[in-house]
Amino acid sequence: MTVVTNIDDLKQIYRRRAPKMFYDYAESGSWTEQTFRENVSDFEKIYFRQRVAVDMVNRSTKTQMIGQDVAMPVALAPVGLTGMQCADGEIKAARAAEKFGVPFTLSTMSICSIEDVAENTTQPFWFQVYTLKDDDFMRRLFERARAANCSAIVITVDLQLMGQRHKDLKNGLSAPPKLTLKSMADMMTKIHWGLGMLGTKRRFFGNIVGHAHGVKDPASLGSWTTEAFDQSLDWKRIAKFREMWGGKVIIKGILDPEDAKMAAKIGADAIIVSNHGGRQLDGALSSIRALQPILDAVGDKIEVHLDSGIRSGQDVLKAVAMGAKGTYIGRAFTYGLGAMGEAGVTKALEIIHKELDMTMALCGHRDITEVSPDILLLPEDFAGDWA
Ligand code: GLV
Repeated sequence: MTVVTNIDDLKQIYRRRAPKMFYDYAESGSWTEQTFRENVSDFEKIYFRQRVAVDMVNRSTKTQMIGQDVAMPVALAPVGLTGMQCADGEIKAARAAEKFGVPFTLSTMSICSIEDVAENTTQPFWFQVYTLKDDDFMRRLFERARAANCSAIVITVDLQLMGQRHKDLKNGLSAPPKLTLKSMADMMTKIHWGLGMLGTKRRFFGNIVGHAHGVKDPASLGSWTTEAFDQSLDWKRIAKFREMWGGKVIIKGILDPEDAKMAAKIGADAIIVSNHGGRQLDGALSSIRALQPILDAVGDKIEVHLDSGIRSGQDVLKAVAMGAKGTYIGRAFTYGLGAMGEAGVTKALEIIHKELDMTMALCGHRDITEVSPDILLLPEDFAGDWA
């Protein structure tokens, strides 16, 4: 049995345990996957300044995201189909997050429904919505999220249409998986996964099936997005969603300072600098490169968070030292979940926390709220000097 010491160990176990279709769904970017790769490799271009002989006793990674206490500046990102990576996956991930003291964000494209997660957890979680055409469906989603005591809404604004991920098309991705010779041959080798799935009734898109009308193929992500997503979206409509919800709002999918200013203008509580894990516009900048110009534009007006590319506590520290008030892990917790269920998500959080805490100490700091760009060595043209 492997001694799990880092996020990549979890990924290797996950790869052996989850059906290929769902592993590929998580581990894909769109088209050439350039942005997907650079989200990770650009973090490696930033270095730390080591400091020595500084008192490192009594350290704390505690801080706040949108006014909520967090054990470290890391939330679980909304990830579609989490309940296909492991039976009842969203409930397991939410439980691990609440025990650890970090926010869990439920995706609209989850398998467990909002109600399912609320009934099986004790802390308020965040709920992610897409920008859909159907106002009634949006209103009902907000009502359901309110009834479930969700403490914030995360509005994804970078998915008016869905990026093409080649592997999903080749694998015929669906939830539940369509039974073909190829998918059955693969699933027969994933015994633990299969037993879990046989033991749960949660195998469909729980927030959509039975709630959205006129969806032709409710098992296919691609067909639902084509039918339901609003390609005519504008900021007025995003402001309208904010009013419909009436509580805290986080806008996810900002890569440009001009869009960041618009999000601040409509009164959002936070933005997430994100390229959707490299799953939407391939060829866009990595999130960590896009961060600085956005902080310069709105850092004093709105909380700026970051996702896409975080695989370690060092990555968290780099983003936070630059000025992000919080970060999100999507793939990193999914690897843990697919590898070992709830315990695997806890393991992913423990790994990231330990890396964050130790790296902060070796940079000469004891309190995450006090780190600054001072601890970093950033390449001069990191944010780019584009014509
Ligand atoms: C959904 O948001 C996805 O990226 O698959």
